[in-house]
Amino acid sequence: MITKKIQMVDLYTQYKLIKKEINGAIESVIKDSAFIGGFYVEKFEKEMAEYCDTKYALGLNSGTDALYLALWALGIKEGDEVITTPFTFFATAEVITRLGAKPVFVDIDPNTFNIDENLIEEKITNKTKAIIPVHLFGLPANMDKILEIAKKYKLFVIEDACQAIGAEYDGKKVGGLGDVGCFSFFPSKNLNGYGDGGMVVTNNEKIAEKIKMLRNHGSKIKYFNDEIGVSSRLDGIQAAILSVKLKYLNKWNKSRQNIADIYNKLLGDINSIEVPKYNLDKKTKHVYHQYTLKIKNGKRDELKKYLEENNVSSMIYYPLPLHFLKAFEYLKIKKGSLPVVEKMCGEVLSLPIYAELDDKKIIDIVKLIKKYV
Ligand SMILES: Cc1ncc(COP(=O)(O)O)c(C=O)c1O
Repeated sequence: MITKKIQMVDLYTQYKLIKKEINGAIESVIKDSAFIGGFYVEKFEKEMAEYCDTKYALGLNSGTDALYLALWALGIKEGDEVITTPFTFFATAEVITRLGAKPVFVDIDPNTFNIDENLIEEKITNKTKAIIPVHLFGLPANMDKILEIAKKYKLFVIEDACQAIGAEYDGKKVGGLGDVGCFSFFPSKNLNGYGDGGMVVTNNEKIAEKIKMLRNHGSKIKYFNDEIGVSSRLDGIQAAILSVKLKYLNKWNKSRQNIADIYNKLLGDINSIEVPKYNLDKKTKHVYHQYTLKIKNGKRDELKKYLEENNVSSMIYYPLPLHFLKAFEYLKIKKGSLPVVEKMCGEVLSLPIYAELDDKKIIDIVKLIKKYV
């Protein structure tokens, strides 16, 4: 019997372990009144550029804005098409539409949940300007193939790395592989703030300069606005908190990998359950933002209910592919046209995973699942 509910993430336990450093960081920002811009934001930007091995890193107020300003800076506009996956958080495609361009969805690989790189070329038209691969659940998409296609058709690649900070492809951190990489510091992410936050990384000076202007009302110099932009800033308190946490990120990601290994070992022999196949492509290093099972016997929702009744949280990421959402009805994509993602949405179930999840809790969760099946 699990008496205290096991949540998907446990942010308070993480906080208690680094409380002194976090509180000290917040106090420093308040002492220096460095709330917007300034030392702590610049310091964190520098650390992130170093971490991702890129020349530039720019703090923004969310992962959504990171994607939005990246596309905007690259000149994506009305009439353009942008290829992406239908199996992602809404924001990935929302920003394409917000700029007047059209999202073009490519079905996914059922083994990785990422965009199926073999289906991209058939969706390219003379309007296609960019590809947004999403490194879903923390597993890098097949970047070799995606970059090769992008080069062949002269397309931009914007990595949606919002769920994958610290993940690697061929020994390189995600985010720094395409033209622009986008991160979210939403509280449930692997590197998480205590509020909203986001970032772009790039090696392209022109794009960096453009995003710097766009995030600051289109100005380089205060009160001298050269174009229409937005207000999108990472605040000092979030930056200082994230600087503290960045030092622990590799360790936390390693713990997530260990937890996934334990889950895989203990759940791998159940016929009706498929555990994540993370090692198909030896080039990828998964950071398990989510640990996601496929429940193959049609009883996913029942299992979820059973776990909930027994004090274990689980989540369905995502219940619908993007082309089924009301907001994208205007694209007129027929049901059945992206069969893999449509099937996956009925099978996926994500279990609790976070660095501090202890063995006892993992075993309790596994026992419960085994009892059910
Ligand atoms: C894949 C993906 N893209 C974009 C976003 C948007 O990030 P944010 O919530 O920081 O705006 C998220 C996170 O929620 C995400 O998971």
